[in-house]
Amino acid sequence: MTTLASAIRKHAPRRVVRFLRGAKGFGRRVACDVADLREKLSGRAQPLTPPRRMWELVGGGDADFHSLGQSQVKLLKAHGLQPYHQVLDVGSGIGRLASPLTQYLKAPGGFDGVEIIPEAVSWCQRVITSACPTFRFHRADVRNDRYNPAGRTPASSYVFPFADETFDFVFLGSVFTHMYAPDMRNYFSEIVRVMKPGGTCVISYYLLDVARRQQPAAPGSALRFDTALDGCWCAFPDLPEAAIAFERRIVEQLYEASGMRILELIRGNWDSSGRQDQDIVIAVKQSLTGS
Ligand SMILES: C[S@@+](CC[C@H](N)C(=O)[O-])C[C@H]1O[C@@H](n2cnc3c(N)ncnc32)[C@H](O)[C@@H]1O
Repeated sequence: MTTLASAIRKHAPRRVVRFLRGAKGFGRRVACDVADLREKLSGRAQPLTPPRRMWELVGGGDADFHSLGQSQVKLLKAHGLQPYHQVLDVGSGIGRLASPLTQYLKAPGGFDGVEIIPEAVSWCQRVITSACPTFRFHRADVRNDRYNPAGRTPASSYVFPFADETFDFVFLGSVFTHMYAPDMRNYFSEIVRVMKPGGTCVISYYLLDVARRQQPAAPGSALRFDTALDGCWCAFPDLPEAAIAFERRIVEQLYEASGMRILELIRGNWDSSGRQDQDIVIAVKQSLTGS
């Protein structure tokens, strides 16, 4: 059945569609501001929280900033994160991991975030770094059609602004799910370069294997990676970087070839539910002695 909204989108002149979209965006922004104000007046507003209208910058605008951040911290702690560790968050967004980690990391521990959305980096620097100077945020002027279409540096050649063997922990939450294969491979080698031997990395993906390829689309499942690109698959051919998947076997080979030992692969249920619950790979960088 055609909904009124889709009928309007199909048949109305572009001007009307643009106006309606603008009105919808305006309405959403007002609703966000009202929710923020209500929280502030009731005394329930939490510190180091970006305004709700920024939550959409990193997608999933309705996803709760705090509960997601806390679950990211819980995951890292479960895999050995200590208060004195140096943490790198690639694609640090609006500080969802950084904000709760300010309550956990203690000097000499520290946090570096790398992010490509300029407003997100400015907000984190202005609010989080001002409150906690050991939390630093770096803007990478890297192009991504979904998040930073005006970026000038290709992700396939970006060099992380850190010395070799700096970090105990590296986290990427829903970042390789928005990067093409050559970009992902370059970032992966930069991650390995900046990790200390024995350090841990926690990275989320959409991973494909034979079973997932063969299973029919589950009713209500959000994503179907049917379009093959160079070394990866996309779910939305009009904007491929909106959702990218990799073959599990190829990702496992990349870890092995890079001296990274996979400790655990937590399978997400993105393929069988409407949620975008991703696969998570936890790995350690092996030292020369092989540990
Ligand atoms: C789905 S959001 C997740 C943000 C954050 N990790 C979180 O969990 O809230 C994906 C993030 O990756 C960032 N990103 C995409 N491509 C990137 C790249 N090449 N380098 C660094 N960050 C990137 C986006 O700007 C965006 O903030």
